[in-house]
Amino acid sequence: MQRAFIEEISKYEGQEALIRGWVTGRRSKGKIHFLTLRDGTGFIQATVFKGELPDEQFEQADHLPQEAAIEVTGLVRSDSRAPGGFELSVRSLKIISLPSKEYPITPKEHGVDFLMDHRHLHLRHRKAWAVLRVRDELERAIHDFFHARGFIRLDSPILTPNAVEGTTDLFEVDLFDGEKAYLSQSGQLYAEAGAMAFGKVYTFGPTFRAERSKTRRHLLEFWMIEPEVAFMTHEENMQLQEELVSYLVGRVLEEKKLELQMLERDTAVLEKSAQGGYPRIHYSKAVEMVNQIAKEKPEQGLEPMQWGDDFGAPHEAALSSQFDRPIFVEKYPAAVKAFYMQPDDEDPRLVKNADMLAPEGVGEIIGGSQRIHDPELLLQKIREHGLPEEVFDWYMDLRLFGTVPHSGFGIGLERTVRWICGIEHIREAIPFPRMYTRMRP
Ligand code: 4AD
Ligand code: MG
Repeated sequence: MQRAFIEEISKYEGQEALIRGWVTGRRSKGKIHFLTLRDGTGFIQATVFKGELPDEQFEQADHLPQEAAIEVTGLVRSDSRAPGGFELSVRSLKIISLPSKEYPITPKEHGVDFLMDHRHLHLRHRKAWAVLRVRDELERAIHDFFHARGFIRLDSPILTPNAVEGTTDLFEVDLFDGEKAYLSQSGQLYAEAGAMAFGKVYTFGPTFRAERSKTRRHLLEFWMIEPEVAFMTHEENMQLQEELVSYLVGRVLEEKKLELQMLERDTAVLEKSAQGGYPRIHYSKAVEMVNQIAKEKPEQGLEPMQWGDDFGAPHEAALSSQFDRPIFVEKYPAAVKAFYMQPDDEDPRLVKNADMLAPEGVGEIIGGSQRIHDPELLLQKIREHGLPEEVFDWYMDLRLFGTVPHSGFGIGLERTVRWICGIEHIREAIPFPRMYTRMRP
């Protein structure tokens, strides 16, 4: 018999199917054993009735520990009470392997640190499984979105000679003979070179930030997708971001219903977010709104802001909680942003940038901007930021040969997964998180 997968078990209704997988739970009631099986693609209940399979196999079923690997054949029956809608009446059972010692993650409650220490096993469990399946859907959806729009995927290097997003959180790597390199903070500068060669590009890769902070939204190593488009303006940039995020949310709502259910995700805000129409709020207005909330709701303990300050996580949370879908905050003071951002036409203290803040208290998931295309202005900014001119000579070349206005953004994959799945902490949005306090397993 050919192997069947739980994900597609409905195709076998009323027929026999063969499943290879692992036991995640077992209950016995006299002449019946109930096994919960997983095969990687899903979870299913298998009922083992005495007399419906050879006696010694029925006996074995009574002693199967958690994570025993087995092969079963059985009749697939629809059952509206079963979580996936189907269950299996077992006709034969074969043990493939038994655990060598007791499996550490039992059905009882475990602390987060314990689960993260056992992350290599924790991946097998429902919540981690559902989150990482949503992550996989998002990864594919991102490629689909950009390829449908004629973008080329451009792989940016991981070892880089220069900082992109400021010099405070760089990971240094020793090269040869005392030479240093840094782990990439962002592929943007390379994406800009790509945009001038291919018109529309996006990067999709790991990026690194030496964040000495324990927050629920920072990783040392995270995956970022960075589109960059020649001739694209700041306004068109926000439009593209809105189309991307509403597509991604819609795709997960459509394709990952079971996973969202398993995560007990309230989808009301996601439904709205899939429709687009993301409000655009000017930086100055956003500061006023934050101060308004600080005044009206002192119980939130929100620090009031001065014009010119950057938003902290609590400010972003308070601000975005006022809306039922993501918002853009645009045109920040240049002083709190990176060197490469194009000044605003009306107010040169500001830049043509936008952060997208996800609702439900999540905050920033995207940072983007129009880039400086004038060579003299760019050189001036590199100097003002105290950056070493010589490592940016190639980046300057992009302005010396056929320079044009261009824009792009970076969306953090884990921040997006965290928001869409409705999970507390970013560490659960990546298979093996790397944080200030965690480097293992
Ligand atoms: O806002 P950031 O720093 O922007 C850039 O890196 C630009 N070069 C992007 C561009 O315009 N091409 O980072 C972009 C996004 C953030 O909005 C956030 O989602 C994510 O990357 N991010 C992190 N995610 C997890 N852990 C961290 N430490 C992160 N730092 C940034
Ligand atoms: Mg940012």
